[in-house]
Amino acid sequence: MSLSTVPSEHRLNEHEPGHDQHVSTTVYGSALAVADIPRFEMAEDEMPARVAARFVHDELLMDGTPALNLASFVTTYMEEEAEKLMVENLSKNFIDVEEYPACGEIETRCVNMIARLFNAPLNDPNAEALGVSTIGSSEAIILSVLAAKRRWQNARKAAGKPWDKPNLVMNAAVQVCWEKAARYLEVEERYWYCTPDRYIIDPKEAVDLVDENTIMVCAILGSTYTGEYEDVKTLNDLLAAKNEKEGLDVHIHVDAASGGFVAPFVNPQLEWDFRVPLVCSINVSGHKYGLAYAGVGWALWREKKFLPEEILFTVNYLGSPQVSFTLNFSKSAVQVIGQYYQLLRLGKSGYRAIMTNLTKTADFLADAVAGVQGGQKFVIMSKKGGDGLPLVAWRLKNKEHYDEFAIARHLRSRGWIVPAYTMAPHTESLKLLRVVVREDFSRHRCETFLRDLNEAVKFLDQTPPEVIEHLKQAVQPRARHAHNPGKSSKSTGKHGHGHHGRHEKHSLQGKHGKTHGIC
Ligand SMILES: Cc1ncc(COP(=O)(O)O)c(C=O)c1O
Repeated sequence: MSLSTVPSEHRLNEHEPGHDQHVSTTVYGSALAVADIPRFEMAEDEMPARVAARFVHDELLMDGTPALNLASFVTTYMEEEAEKLMVENLSKNFIDVEEYPACGEIETRCVNMIARLFNAPLNDPNAEALGVSTIGSSEAIILSVLAAKRRWQNARKAAGKPWDKPNLVMNAAVQVCWEKAARYLEVEERYWYCTPDRYIIDPKEAVDLVDENTIMVCAILGSTYTGEYEDVKTLNDLLAAKNEKEGLDVHIHVDAASGGFVAPFVNPQLEWDFRVPLVCSINVSGHKYGLAYAGVGWALWREKKFLPEEILFTVNYLGSPQVSFTLNFSKSAVQVIGQYYQLLRLGKSGYRAIMTNLTKTADFLADAVAGVQGGQKFVIMSKKGGDGLPLVAWRLKNKEHYDEFAIARHLRSRGWIVPAYTMAPHTESLKLLRVVVREDFSRHRCETFLRDLNEAVKFLDQTPPEVIEHLKQAVQPRARHAHNPGKSSKSTGKHGHGHHGRHEKHSLQGKHGKTHGIC
């Protein structure tokens, strides 16, 4: 078959003997394999599906290997049955509830199951919980801040008081999406700052920051930096006392992006959810320890009064009300389907087994890291035994001629993606490394990682400082939007992967210089 779609200028010398000018043999024997690939402007001509697919496939090989990406909380493994289901439903737009009522029903089931897992006050077994699926925790957090702001404004207006200076009390170690929410929704960010010895919010100092303009207080169930859980119960008790004393009505939102699917199974007696009276809303990422692939989160509210009517869109289908309260309309249905599969497939005992294994693996890793070079090398900054997320955060014990970033770079040469980053605002002098233990990080993989970590440390110990300095300048992975091959991609700190990200111009940096690398 002659492929007339190959533009003539892209054909090799048609008279060259032995060279196949058509795309009829192999992709790499075709003229297209030696032509430039469109980067800025769509080509005039088509290309065969086989060739296009191969080119895109090859381009994507430049990405890291998801299973070796120890930087991210986001799921990198699902069973084949789940993947098959997701592929079968790829063409469904989730928002078309009339056409795809089963998808809406599945979302409602997930909301109900997760709300009950978080002890929402639903005494009637058939009572509908209040919540919605989102793209992730960031969207859920933006919605929760919006709801709290509107509720506060409505109350202030009704009382004839000023309503133009809302604030949000939180730990400066919040994930950068909180800064985004505050900035987009014009709410003052009122921070409690970490100290060199404390990375989770001090409940008393946080409550001292609360005033009549506070729309809510954020508590983090699983700090992105060290995985530690903030003390929601104590925060509740101190806030309740202040509310009563000063006639305030301030509530707590729990950012359980990562901890929401861990704590109920590993640490069920920990009271952090709707059991705590002032908790008005919770977000959780289905795509983190909810074990679904990227693109699903959940926002849940205790009761209707926390979701002002004017921001709710109610769609009626099959006789039951479907509350739409999201930032976008069209989205893929497959992530919610993947989440439902996991809830159905694993049940509580399945999640418990996985989360317990992850906690054991994280404890094993923490002990091994702490024991490197007879315990002289590293300090562990995360918690063990299920008192925090299954992750290990650590830093160098002593000043060395290399830092945590050099270790991360060396591990990268073995394929491991381990982030090194500076601690939250006011504690930036602390640098740390973090390994997130996900479902597919088995004990065996963990041991392979430890072997490479020990080798990296040994290598760096023996490497002269000038060489370490030189290696710092080595070419780093290219930034997401760096298309221009003419521009240098040397590590100037501009690309987020290279250095501390403090000079990065990326808008997600937030006003405190956090980078998007930590999520
Ligand atoms: C505590 C916390 N909140 C929010 C987020 C943002 O979550 P998502 O990536 O699901 O939007 C993260 C991401 O790591 C997080 O750790």
